[in-house]
Amino acid sequence: MPWAADRQPSMGCGESGREVMGLKAVTLVERVTHSPEETVLFGREVAAYFRPPCLVLLEGDLGAGKTTITKGIVAGLGAAREEDVTSPTFTLVHEYGPNGQVFHVDLYRIEGARDLATLGLDDLSSQPATVLVEWGEKLGDNVPQTCFKVRMEHQESDNRRIVIERLEA
Ligand SMILES: Nc1ncnc2c1ncn2[C@@H]1O[C@H](COP(=O)(O)OP(=O)(O)O)[C@@H](O)[C@H]1O
Ligand SMILES: [Mg+2]
Repeated sequence: MPWAADRQPSMGCGESGREVMGLKAVTLVERVTHSPEETVLFGREVAAYFRPPCLVLLEGDLGAGKTTITKGIVAGLGAAREEDVTSPTFTLVHEYGPNGQVFHVDLYRIEGARDLATLGLDDLSSQPATVLVEWGEKLGDNVPQTCFKVRMEHQESDNRRIVIERLEA
């Protein structure tokens, strides 16, 4: 995958970041939200980090809120209204914006490299778009040298802890 082409093994990481797949993870912002509406608003707030071209890996269990925050991010990027953003669980890839400037991918049902190859992520990676990937951890190290992670954790009741990280060499 072209995303991975220029990646060199990292020599370690600074004091501030953990290391993920040989890349340094720098925390940009953390928030606990208490409702889906608050998560959508937070997505709008952080959308500016994700201006194209970029890859955003969304991680967290089923129901953590990955699709919910994506509504805010897509709306914040001006590509669609939040109510028009729906889960690509079955369709695998949704495209938003007049020029396809945002792609929303769900890898939940994807198993193995062969399945991944059929998705056409190679083509997406060469476009000037923001690509949001639920279950992004399934991409393994097929990611560019700089990308983002949105980590979501279901806490008690409607609380979700959300951490936004930038991964860099
Ligand atoms: N603070 C919150 N943030 C996001 N979703 C929440 C929150 N509290 C409750 N929910 C509910 O949790 C579910 C999240 O679903 P969804 O965004 O589809 O998760 P995922 O895509 O991670 O599987 C929705 O039913 C939503 O209404
Ligand atoms: Mg989802």
